[in-house]
Amino acid sequence: MQRSAAPGRPSARLCYHRHFGAYRSDALECSLSSVEPYILGIESSCDETAAAVVRGGKIVLSSVVASQVDIHRKYGGVVPELASREHLRQIVPVVREAVSQAGIELKDLDAVAVTQGPGLVGALLVGMTYGKVLAMSLGKPLIGVNHLAGHVHAVFLEAHMTGAKIPELPALCLIVSGGHTMLYRVAGDGSRPFTYTRIGGTRDDAAGEAYDKVARMLALGYPGGPIIDQLAVHGDPKAIRFGTPKMTGNAHDFSFSGIKTAVLYHLQRHRELDPEIEKRRETLAHGERSAAALRRLCSQATLDLIASFQHAVVEDLVARSLAAAAVTGAKSILVTGGVAANRELRTRFEAEAKRADKEAFFPSRALSTDNAAMIAAAGYPSYAAGMYADSTLNADPNLPLTARIYESSR
Ligand code: KG4
Ligand code: ZN
Repeated sequence: MQRSAAPGRPSARLCYHRHFGAYRSDALECSLSSVEPYILGIESSCDETAAAVVRGGKIVLSSVVASQVDIHRKYGGVVPELASREHLRQIVPVVREAVSQAGIELKDLDAVAVTQGPGLVGALLVGMTYGKVLAMSLGKPLIGVNHLAGHVHAVFLEAHMTGAKIPELPALCLIVSGGHTMLYRVAGDGSRPFTYTRIGGTRDDAAGEAYDKVARMLALGYPGGPIIDQLAVHGDPKAIRFGTPKMTGNAHDFSFSGIKTAVLYHLQRHRELDPEIEKRRETLAHGERSAAALRRLCSQATLDLIASFQHAVVEDLVARSLAAAAVTGAKSILVTGGVAANRELRTRFEAEAKRADKEAFFPSRALSTDNAAMIAAAGYPSYAAGMYADSTLNADPNLPLTARIYESSR
């Protein structure tokens, strides 16, 4: 069980994205005028309590994430009640730490941007309530941010932080995580918040969810994505051919429950090919989760199954995204969310985007998974346009990305 935080102090599980410090060059700072706002971002939509201070929507001064993965690991997925309780425990020290690491005080903040949805309602309510009360007590504007818009902005934030090329718009964005597999067309000229058009989404499991469920069936631990990513390179991706789901209606939709069931049936039919599954379970129960240890307990047939599963998922994500990019006239392809950290996914997207004469963009791992820097960055265009929320702003577990979420204007 995760250690609880001592009052006023962050717990040992807090992860500080210190590497952002390396990007904080004078040149970056000088590119901002002295009036660029300090926005505090707060994120609590799922199993990460996060806070960050971002300046001018471009420079991450701090990004603190308290992960709950150790708490949910034994259940093989996020338990909503436990998530809410842990957010309550972490929200105060995480926000304090983010403000302190940014080298400022609460009174220096210009606005508070908080995730409004989508996500787990109990989890969202913790960040929403805290953010609202903080903004009001400081007399600063409150901005409601769609979590999915945050993932989109993570790609632009990465480019600003590294000095890399800024993706051209309109873009096609694949948001692929444990909770989402969505395709959006992103347009705008930078003067107002982006406009988003939903192109497709998953009809059942999210891709990350399929990774987590397959890893559970194979006794590879939780979360499943990183370990499958590491083991897949040792297997033959063409050993087992999992078909591509045929979608009736919107061809840009996804479905991953079929492949998950196909893996289950394959395992049931060929138990003899995975003789060490119980040993893997015992290994995990003893807290050993390294890829090297688990690989030693995987037969070649099991590694081939892992590689074939990943190959099928990656090819499906790449093919549908490229097709959507073509029909929407996208100039760039953005890939974001936890699964965007996958190495095969990145390599395949880069290659296929190039063939289609487009460029693929990804955030770093720290910005791909849930964090609050992306929420602060996504709140910036609303701040600049004076699109503030009022006290009626509420958490919405099903908030669509295309919804208007701003209640009042300055
Ligand atoms: O964005 P995220 O941190 O949280 C949400 O679900 O919103 O994404 C977590 C998901 C998990 O399903 C995890 O298994 C998956 O992202 N994931 C990966 C990789 N790293 C994390 N999936 C495939 N390959 C990875 N390297
Ligand atoms: Zn997310």
